[in-house]
Amino acid sequence: MNTVTQNSHSPYSSRITGTGSAFPQNRLTNHDLAKRVDTSDEWIADRTGIRERRIVRPGDPSEQNSSLGYAAALKALEMAGKTPDQIDQIIYATVTPDTLIPSAACWLQHKLGARRAWAMDLNAACSGFVYALATADQFIRSGQVRTSLVVGADVLSSVTNWSDRSSCILFGDGAGAFIVEQTHAQSPHRILSSHLGSDGDLWEVFHIPAGGSNLEVTPEAYSKNLHKMNMKGKEIFKSAVRTLSDYAVMAIEANGLKPEEIDWLIPHQANLRIIEAVAKRLNFPMSKVLVNIDRFGNTSSATVPTAMDEAVRDGRIQKGQTLLLDVFGAGLTYGSILVRW
Ligand code: UT7
Repeated sequence: MNTVTQNSHSPYSSRITGTGSAFPQNRLTNHDLAKRVDTSDEWIADRTGIRERRIVRPGDPSEQNSSLGYAAALKALEMAGKTPDQIDQIIYATVTPDTLIPSAACWLQHKLGARRAWAMDLNAACSGFVYALATADQFIRSGQVRTSLVVGADVLSSVTNWSDRSSCILFGDGAGAFIVEQTHAQSPHRILSSHLGSDGDLWEVFHIPAGGSNLEVTPEAYSKNLHKMNMKGKEIFKSAVRTLSDYAVMAIEANGLKPEEIDWLIPHQANLRIIEAVAKRLNFPMSKVLVNIDRFGNTSSATVPTAMDEAVRDGRIQKGQTLLLDVFGAGLTYGSILVRW
């Protein structure tokens, strides 16, 4: 259930050299939501920490999943000083691709003109970006890839049940992207470790019943909203606090570090109360935790790269700092990555 990657004998390691993010223009505030379902700004802000989220305009080509990924990728490429023809590999973490065939990764390759790359999607729900970054790290350390574009992007508004007040308040749309490049094994700036896990026995706490090969979106399935996210919030909450804490400790201990040596914790943004509970368990001050859920809600695979990109660009993240990326998602899936920036 758990894989660990560290201390390999590869002469290479991976360095993140560019970050970028993009969000749709339209803001959906808690007050707007209170006009649709029986809720209030106060309840949502108190119970989740969310004040507003961004939602795509359906049908707008500039706000398709891969268009948000494209905008984020351009910013990451610019920061890294790279051009699309230098990308060897595109790994696109998403559960809401533009189309099931082809993949969002291929749409992005098309939009970028990244002709040398090979491209694939990866589905690990909200853990997707960490899974994708760990995968890119493996290809880079194997020597097969020199430059990888890793994207985490989701348009969760397309699978949100807008009549379910216990879930529709949580989600938003957005995209984050990293350029990851090959460097030498002992580079001071590199990905130090990754820990991934999953527990398919817990599939039922967060799933979309229809739209896959099990169940077509028939008129009946459609009328029952079976093509939308179905979530048992309380159960996910408990499991999330436990696993985020466990995977943070695994990363810290595997690298022989102490919690106080972590400069920034970058957790999946599902609920501010989950993040605060994890920080408390780890005895970690909230002043060292990156948070963007207040403005963007839960953007699934985009939460970690967008929160990190913001802190890189505003100067909170400084060269040489140690960053702990820590996620959970449907599946259930889990993971953490430790980075020396
Ligand atoms: O990436 C993973 C995605 N999902 C998650 O991470 C979800 C994790 N879970 C959560 O974030 C929280 O469980 C929720 C925010 C979903 C719910 O918060 P909670 O504190 O666990 O509330 P609850 O489900 O225990 O509900 C408490 C009350 C209920 O009313 P009664 O039965 O006490 O009368 C709900 O009906 O709050 C009610 N309620 C609401 N009231 C106003 C539930 N949703 C709302 C709402 N507005 N939006």
